[in-house]
Amino acid sequence: MLSNQAGDEKRKSLHGHWSSRMAFVLAVTGSAVGLGNIWKFPYIAGQNGGGAFVLVYLVCVVVIGMPVMMSEILIGRRGRRNPVATMELLGKEEGHSGKWRLVGSLGVLAGILILSYYSVIAGWTLAYIVKSASGVFAGASAEAVEAQFNSFVGDWRLIGLCHTVFMALAVFVVARGVERGLEQAVRFMVPALLFLMIVLLVYSMNSGYFGEGVAFMFTPDFDKLTWNSVLAALGQAFFTLSIGMGAIMAYGAYLPEETSITGSSAAVVIADTSIAILAGLAIFPLVFANNLDPADGPGLVFDTLPLAFGQMAGGVFFSTIFFVLLSFAAWTSAIGLMEPAVAWIVERFSKTRAQATVMIGFTIWFIGWGSVLSFNVLSDVTFLAGTIFDNVDYLTSNIMLPLGGLLIVIFAGWVMARNSTADELHSSGSLFKAWRVLARFVAPVGILLVLINAVL
Ligand code: PFF
Repeated sequence: MLSNQAGDEKRKSLHGHWSSRMAFVLAVTGSAVGLGNIWKFPYIAGQNGGGAFVLVYLVCVVVIGMPVMMSEILIGRRGRRNPVATMELLGKEEGHSGKWRLVGSLGVLAGILILSYYSVIAGWTLAYIVKSASGVFAGASAEAVEAQFNSFVGDWRLIGLCHTVFMALAVFVVARGVERGLEQAVRFMVPALLFLMIVLLVYSMNSGYFGEGVAFMFTPDFDKLTWNSVLAALGQAFFTLSIGMGAIMAYGAYLPEETSITGSSAAVVIADTSIAILAGLAIFPLVFANNLDPADGPGLVFDTLPLAFGQMAGGVFFSTIFFVLLSFAAWTSAIGLMEPAVAWIVERFSKTRAQATVMIGFTIWFIGWGSVLSFNVLSDVTFLAGTIFDNVDYLTSNIMLPLGGLLIVIFAGWVMARNSTADELHSSGSLFKAWRVLARFVAPVGILLVLINAVL
């Protein structure tokens, strides 16, 4: 098949390549599975009334998330540069415009902003390792666990310190390069996390409120669904899959030529969605069993899970391991969040990877103080979507990621030649046609509809 790249050698990435298809799937899964699944999904579902939100989220994952993810990987692999340079290169190569690089820039910015608050929450999980291990949750009441959480986030020095430690850990791994360490961490972390989620699930099945939890998650009550909650579901689909900001594009740049993009994407989407659903199934029964409020917000997981572990035999051990794993999951996601910015600085300004990572890491750490203070000193400073933290979250998940995803599918579906995409997807058969219909029509129209209705 003739492609626009024909003639010259296939491109190589400056940053090396994944050692195998498995390595790529693990890295993308590591980026996808994170706080978004276990911390964010349950609380956003809770705030948006459960069932109907979950249904819309699942539809978004399949008909929008999957084609966006495939588009991002194929663009990344074809360009083999950082997202800014890749979009510029392919924009020109496809006979359009180098201005498409702005999509890459939007992604770099989104990654920086997301990590600024992500790191704050990841810092909480670090602190909860220590709290769990110290036994403070053993046998504690719901009130005691909630009081623990409130006094913890009320202490800006402490959560600022945790944010600092987490950013230092993220900078450390990214500076060392993508492959080393990351692969091993994910290989062990995802199965272990899955195992602990199942332990929790069994516990919550025996809580006596499992039916209530399941009903809350799976009985759609469309009266509760507003355009804003549809947007939240769309935003969550993007956030949890790490798409719409070039992270997966950056990972795709290191993907060997022969790997199947469709198969890898499907594996990641299934793993990520399963973990989110499991987290919901573990958490909501506990919420109802303990008379907690499902719309409690960002503290939901930190209030319910320590409580459950505190009542379990071996709870101190399991709780400690759980927060260790959650921190790992956040860590492997943080790497994805930094990668577009770091790869861009390395290529654009000829910096070493270590220099670029420290620069970006410091910037993110600094911006993160806005979120640190949102839970204490500045908790009364609210505008638009709420506190500074709420606004950064809303702007990135609900606006920047869907907008980035929209431009990415338009690029892959309309700007790139049919041959170029068929070449990358190794197919022109029915799977390719299905992707193309989703990327050209379903995903862009869906995203636009939701964005326009919710925002205007
Ligand atoms: N998908 C991650 C999560 O669910 O926690 C968050 C994330 C990581 C978003 C990497 C975007 C990204 F590039």
